[in-house]
Amino acid sequence: SNWKNIMLEQEEGWALLTLSRPKVLNALSRELLDELNEAVDWVEKTDSIRVLILTGDGEKAFVAGADISEFTQIEHAGQAEELAIKGQTLFNRIENLPKPVIMAVNGYALGGGCELALCGDIILASEHARFGQPEINLGIIPGYGGTQRLARVVGKNMAKYLCMTGEMLTAAEAHRLGLVQKVLPASELLNEAKSLAKQLSQKAPLAIQWIKKSIQNGLDIDLKTGLQLEASYFGLCFDTEDRIEGVNAFLEKRPPRFKGK
Ligand code: HXC
Repeated sequence: SNWKNIMLEQEEGWALLTLSRPKVLNALSRELLDELNEAVDWVEKTDSIRVLILTGDGEKAFVAGADISEFTQIEHAGQAEELAIKGQTLFNRIENLPKPVIMAVNGYALGGGCELALCGDIILASEHARFGQPEINLGIIPGYGGTQRLARVVGKNMAKYLCMTGEMLTAAEAHRLGLVQKVLPASELLNEAKSLAKQLSQKAPLAIQWIKKSIQNGLDIDLKTGLQLEASYFGLCFDTEDRIEGVNAFLEKRPPRFKGK
């Protein structure tokens, strides 16, 4: 890859993308969004990559939001809406990637950075991570899904509180609210993300994919339809070789070796 704003590290089963514009706390420029879109294309089509980890470069920030310096080039509502849709389209892709996405939040996750973290399946945070939607302090509102995904995770009133005040949550508070799954010392964050990625990469890929789809799509529909969706994915599992392997491995008292078929 010849990305200017993203570093790639990969090992068997997973890829780690580090968003890297450390001088501006990894703010999301249009160029970075385009590169991230390319990187997601690559992760999606590379079968050997079963898990994606995203993190930010440096000690201080995951992503401090959209690149505010680019806002001065926006002249009217239509252009701003277009930028919101550009980011939302990419973030939807990340949220719906048929592979687990682990967000390793190493510092500030603000505005678009918090919104990006919310697109992960699992959020790990370092002790000094901070989450917030400070757009209100710029006289604007979140545009990459903050008013929608945040409310679905922390509830309506907490989302309104955070978006209206711009107040930041500590990692511990975000953990208590269910936004973060695990809080770790900064020095352990990436190791934990990698070991979790390795663990997930050894699970049955189709079952992982159906868990993700069932939960993700289920949240947008009523319970009855959601349960039907779950039953249909449950059925699909029984047509896979990995189901036979998983059950046999259990009965033979050995670890399973899944193939994604
Ligand atoms: C551009 C940014 C930036 C951003 C930080 N920088 N955040 N540049 N866009 N979002 C730059 C600073 O200008 C500064 O550059 C350098 O990074 C270091 O930041 P400091 O402010 O000096 O650091 P510090 O005092 O420690 O404060 C950290 C901070 C603060 C609290 C995170 O930087 C901050 O409030 N940033 C903005 C956060 C924000 O409002 N995000 C939401 C953006 S709107 P120099 O050149 O001075 O060294 C958004 C909307 C998404 O995300 C949807 C769009 C459609």
